[in-house]
Amino acid sequence: MTHPSFNLARSADILQVRGRQILDSRGRPTVEVDVSLRDGSSGRACAPSGASTGRHEVLELRDGDDGLHEGRGVSKAVNNINGEIAELLKGRPATSQAGLDEALRTHDGTANLSRLGANAVIATSLAICRAAAIHERLPLHRYIAQLLGTTRTSMPMPMTNILSGGAHARRSMDFQDFLAIPVGAKTYGDALNMLASVRSAASDLLAEDGITTLLADEGGLSPGYASADEAFRLMMRAFERAKLRPGHDIAIAIDVAASEFYRDGKYHLAGEQRTLDGEEMAEYLGDFIRRYPLISIEDAFDQDDWSSWSSFTKRFPKVQIVGDDLFVTNPDRIARGIEVGAANAVLIKVNQNGTLTGAFEAMKRARAGGYATVISARSGETEDSFIADLAVGSDAGQIKIGSVRNSERLAKYNQLTRIAELEAAELTFSFS
Ligand code: PGA
Ligand code: ZN
Repeated sequence: MTHPSFNLARSADILQVRGRQILDSRGRPTVEVDVSLRDGSSGRACAPSGASTGRHEVLELRDGDDGLHEGRGVSKAVNNINGEIAELLKGRPATSQAGLDEALRTHDGTANLSRLGANAVIATSLAICRAAAIHERLPLHRYIAQLLGTTRTSMPMPMTNILSGGAHARRSMDFQDFLAIPVGAKTYGDALNMLASVRSAASDLLAEDGITTLLADEGGLSPGYASADEAFRLMMRAFERAKLRPGHDIAIAIDVAASEFYRDGKYHLAGEQRTLDGEEMAEYLGDFIRRYPLISIEDAFDQDDWSSWSSFTKRFPKVQIVGDDLFVTNPDRIARGIEVGAANAVLIKVNQNGTLTGAFEAMKRARAGGYATVISARSGETEDSFIADLAVGSDAGQIKIGSVRNSERLAKYNQLTRIAELEAAELTFSFS
């Protein structure tokens, strides 16, 4: 007979779940959760938070106007973790990720996790995964691969914010992100080197141009150009300054975040003082595709403008067309997109879905339809580097973290550097 204390020492059963309110990279409250197991393993995770959130995302629970943190406090979500969620999970094995995520969803009882709070649920879900990885004595990315039933892992190709606008930069430019993709990088180390050079070159060029820049939420520079074309030109100059060949070594991606300026069926480009319908918007973007090495476009259209999405995707099959607010990491919306040919890639943000298992389902659905996957951070982040391991362990292919500035971003970039020591670090860019 096995000695009882031996079993106890090896048990992955959850002993304690503790939540707390911490601050994110914008200085706003968010949720952090610690999950500890009977064997002494423990995992910690934090909920990120968006600014240009999609209408169909799950719901972050915030306290509302109680005078603290401008109503953005998360004490209700924290109380739910320390009360109902802890009660629900105690004594259950952390290694049953899918079962626990399902239990959290069922116990919440709403479609958008608004009762317990999606921020409470996602931080708990990720902390369970971390604790279980430690219990299994596996690096987190390998444990994630095991959960997905595979040993196939890969280093993701980063797309990195250089210039910012939209909701992350006081709307100083219409488009939200101008990013660089180091398509010619052979290794993750090469990729980082190129990206850091381009980011520095952009900063130097703007200073030389006498432009005062705003440092945006994701560490990108916001020169406040009135037209997108000026931003594309600056990107090209930064590539040249960094001695990189556009289209060979490095290429451009944008996140239009078009839902942010879509009203009454029209796209309102404030900087350019133009109002476009879906068809004109496609023309406008098509012009940039023809003139610049623009290989990936996210949220070119509004989150419910399905027909514009479909016709654009059909028209530019060689460009990666990424759905963020369109899909909100929701398997049903991804299935609808595949059916109508909207986009050919999916941005995966764990907190848009609410659980890790839900995010896995979104990725599986995307892949089954031949869509590429890009793991993404939010504009409000913490020092939690979970998504770095997620990108490798799920063989996602690509990752979008923000700029190579600010510790909440570097926590992820640097974790990828550590993982690259363990994994074959070869990089490729492909979206189909
Ligand atoms: P968000 O922005 O986190 O503010 O939603 C990120 C993105 O749009 O990709
Ligand atoms: Zn986006």
